[in-house]
Amino acid sequence: MRKQIAAANWKMNLTLQQGEALLDGILGKVSSLGKDQQVVFAVPFPYLSQAQQKIAGKEQVFIAAQNCYNKKSGAFTGEVSVEMLQSLGIQWVVLGHSERREYFGESDQFLAEKVNIVLENGLTPLFCCGEALQIREANTQNEFVGNQLKASLFHLSAEQIQKVVIAYEPIWAIGTGKTASSAQAQEMHAFIRAELAAKYGAEVASNISILYGGSVKAANAVEIFGQPDVDGGLVGGASLIADEFVSIINGLK
Ligand code: G3P
Repeated sequence: MRKQIAAANWKMNLTLQQGEALLDGILGKVSSLGKDQQVVFAVPFPYLSQAQQKIAGKEQVFIAAQNCYNKKSGAFTGEVSVEMLQSLGIQWVVLGHSERREYFGESDQFLAEKVNIVLENGLTPLFCCGEALQIREANTQNEFVGNQLKASLFHLSAEQIQKVVIAYEPIWAIGTGKTASSAQAQEMHAFIRAELAAKYGAEVASNISILYGGSVKAANAVEIFGQPDVDGGLVGGASLIADEFVSIINGLK
């Protein structure tokens, strides 16, 4: 049974003190997660250690890094390796967010290398994909997202791909207040699952969680998460407000 996941992406927001207060506010209100539900907080690098300590003992709650480098170690000033994350107890890493692809030029090949090193070290990659507005307007989003998956994930074995969590984040819906309709989300998620099934078989595809990201909030979470191929969300803005994110968690199937 694949997991239903509410993942918060704080991006480059909050001070340490604000982040701690937010985590306390959310964790204090989330008591009973279902056995197939998980909550993930992708926090800025400097807060990973403190955040990890706050979730100690909470089995279905994880802290994620928002990025990592594709090399084991060495002379790469300013970068963070998977081993460093592992040494803090971090179990998840967000990879390929559209902001990293756009502002930091991260290519499909570079992301494939990051996926490899994250999996080799036993962490979970939360791999993001999604198209820009002009691609949606040209109605070529399936081909575009399909190519992102093929280029960065489809070299993996069937065993490895089941350790990846995918987030579909249409760029036109990120931080714009403009959400994909639940039908648009379902259509793309079903397409992604069909691509996974074509490559790895239906059983493998059915084990992979596919999250939706793009202006998810308390008011739309239940409807979006209720779609058969949507397994939760990757949430930006609304994850910075404790009550909003608690409601989003409560909206998981
Ligand atoms: O990774 C989450 C994200 O990009 C969506 O951001 O603010 O539209 O929820 P937001």
